[in-house]
Amino acid sequence: PAPLRVLADRAGVRIGTAVDMTALAEDTTYRRTTAREFNSVTAENVMKWESVEPRRGVYDWKKADELVRFARAHGQVVRGHTLVWHSQLPSWLTAGVADGSIDAEELRGILRKHITTEVKRYKGRIQQWDVVNEVFEEDGSLRNSIWLQQLGPSYIADAFRWAHAADPKARLFLNDYNVEGVNAKSTAYYELAKRLRAEGVPVQGFGIQGHLAIQYGFPGQVAENLARFEALGMGTAFTEVDVRMILPADETKLATQASYFRRLLDACLGARSCTSFTVWGYSDKYSWVPGVFAGQGAATLMDEEFARKPAYGTVREGL
Ligand code: XIL
Repeated sequence: PAPLRVLADRAGVRIGTAVDMTALAEDTTYRRTTAREFNSVTAENVMKWESVEPRRGVYDWKKADELVRFARAHGQVVRGHTLVWHSQLPSWLTAGVADGSIDAEELRGILRKHITTEVKRYKGRIQQWDVVNEVFEEDGSLRNSIWLQQLGPSYIADAFRWAHAADPKARLFLNDYNVEGVNAKSTAYYELAKRLRAEGVPVQGFGIQGHLAIQYGFPGQVAENLARFEALGMGTAFTEVDVRMILPADETKLATQASYFRRLLDACLGARSCTSFTVWGYSDKYSWVPGVFAGQGAATLMDEEFARKPAYGTVREGL
């Protein structure tokens, strides 16, 4: 049977995965499967600020370059992830803000330089950039990050303007988790997107991470949510889909997981605006879930031996 990317090509959509660059270098099965199954890739970590500028003014693009090269060699597009986030910031930056040696004005310049430098480096080679990541709390208030504290809410519009100036053809996305359905958080994004677009700020997409857990149930009103962003003229994408469960996995849980993957995919395929569906890793061997959610795992399409789980089958059938 055809790999996922062949079916995705026929359907006119991108099927993507986050890529672990250590695994890509060391595990030939992982490397082959990443090339065979996907027509889009996202750096799981190596394009984040702490990776690309570990010391102030000292850049390390090696692994990010490697991914962009891999993608080109295998006919894959790249989703850039991510430019402005509260997490995985370099310690020189967080320490400098904390001890007052970097003031607000300097911080704004540092952010502008970071965005400009990274976006320009990959100009023409990134299809979609996650420009700002996880800026809202669950209740729809802006997250109390160093960006909000130091720069105020205008940092969001600034980030999009700077990214657009650096690569006018890249599609620029907002991105967050727990925004699959209609809720306070996704509504905050909807209002933000509407306002930014009315002001002429270059924001073209809404990225829905899609980190689900079967024990919490499937989110409500996913199609309605996609539709309202689409009505603003926005693109949409599922950017980090995985479906975790409380371990151990069993047949029933794996069947529920498969249906959750399929329902998110169906929501994407049912929306004209949604042309990209990315999973956050495709083998349980390299999933971030067990390291972060104690007692949970088995969140991806394949097990630790790369055997296809029921979810792989439902995704393939859905494409
Ligand atoms: C995660 C990676 O998967 C981990 O390897 C890393 O230790 C922490 O970050 N939302 C995001 C992603 O936007 O960047 C996160 O990735 C998962 C949650």
